[in-house]
Amino acid sequence: MIKPEIASRQPLWLLAELTYKCPLQCPYCSNPLDFAGAGAELTTQEWIDVFTQAREMGAAQLGFSGGEPLVRQDLTELIAAARDLGYYTNLITSGLGLNAERMADFRQAGLDHIQISFQASDEEVNNMLAGSAKAFEQKLKMAREVKAQGYPMVLNFVTHRHNIDRIDRIIELCIELEADYVELATCQYYGWAFENRAALLPTRAQLEKAEAITQEYRQRLQAAGNPLKLIFVTPDYYEERPKKCMNGWGEIFLTVTPDGTALPCHSARMLPIEFPNVKTMSLEEIWQTSPGFNYFRGDAWMPEPCRSCDEKEQDLGGCRCQAFMLTGDMHATDPVCSKSPEHHRILAARQEAELAEEREMTYRNERNSRIFCRG
Ligand code: FES
Repeated sequence: MIKPEIASRQPLWLLAELTYKCPLQCPYCSNPLDFAGAGAELTTQEWIDVFTQAREMGAAQLGFSGGEPLVRQDLTELIAAARDLGYYTNLITSGLGLNAERMADFRQAGLDHIQISFQASDEEVNNMLAGSAKAFEQKLKMAREVKAQGYPMVLNFVTHRHNIDRIDRIIELCIELEADYVELATCQYYGWAFENRAALLPTRAQLEKAEAITQEYRQRLQAAGNPLKLIFVTPDYYEERPKKCMNGWGEIFLTVTPDGTALPCHSARMLPIEFPNVKTMSLEEIWQTSPGFNYFRGDAWMPEPCRSCDEKEQDLGGCRCQAFMLTGDMHATDPVCSKSPEHHRILAARQEAELAEEREMTYRNERNSRIFCRG
């Protein structure tokens, strides 16, 4: 018998990472470093089974992500199945592999929303970061097509020390493209971004300037009656309290990776926890009773200083993946918290960002990933 408080939890948000294949090589990709060692991708029917089960459990929003989800040739079929099940669907894409006809097919299949990610506002930096000479032009073309086909235009710019000083040009580009929503999301340091953190983390001064410029633009846009919404996301490396990651472990968020591994967040695969696979267990069982999804539910797992902290309900001790990456202990208080005995690690990262040194980046590609597979 399931306890009532457990039964009331629903995986409202399903993230379907359809594939780890991607034509780009972004050095801040949140995919696991050893993605090249993942098992075979789920088939079309296996994905549809996952969507069906999650919908029966109350999932309402379905994100198609990757890698690059456009690599999957069955994407239109998956969108149609999701629409038939009643999901609100969102395609999170680089735009590479998209064209007007395919976009129209997605529209007809019932796709609600397309988010195109850019690396920078100018061709050279964008293509350098993407590791592709034709990425920028294609993205512009597809962003315009998104608008032409009547989707809301949602753009995502991942900002970091190489492009954050050009935030005004990024915003100007968004205005020119007539975007509706723009996420100016400072890199979150997971996966490849963590590996490249020293080369990517902006300084506090860079961040503050970018935020002030964004605020000026907001005021100008409002005065001009432009509905463009600018969402500025800061990295938690400059906070004193950690975020309530995923709104709590196994509370509303469910990720299924290309090979069917089910995770409570997109990064948990790196943790020393055995996570279940949708090929061998029902989603209901995975969500309700699997040890992986229950591991950090509640607060019984919390060590000090979280356990006796009067703010523990607000942040639940922060991000488990971040605690693991920074300390090697997934139970530790997230070092972002100034009460953490490991907070000096965050201070050291901030200090490192102040050094204006050029650093090599490890690009996210199959060849580099194989190196991480070997450990
Ligand atoms: Fe995994 Fe925060 S990203 S718990």
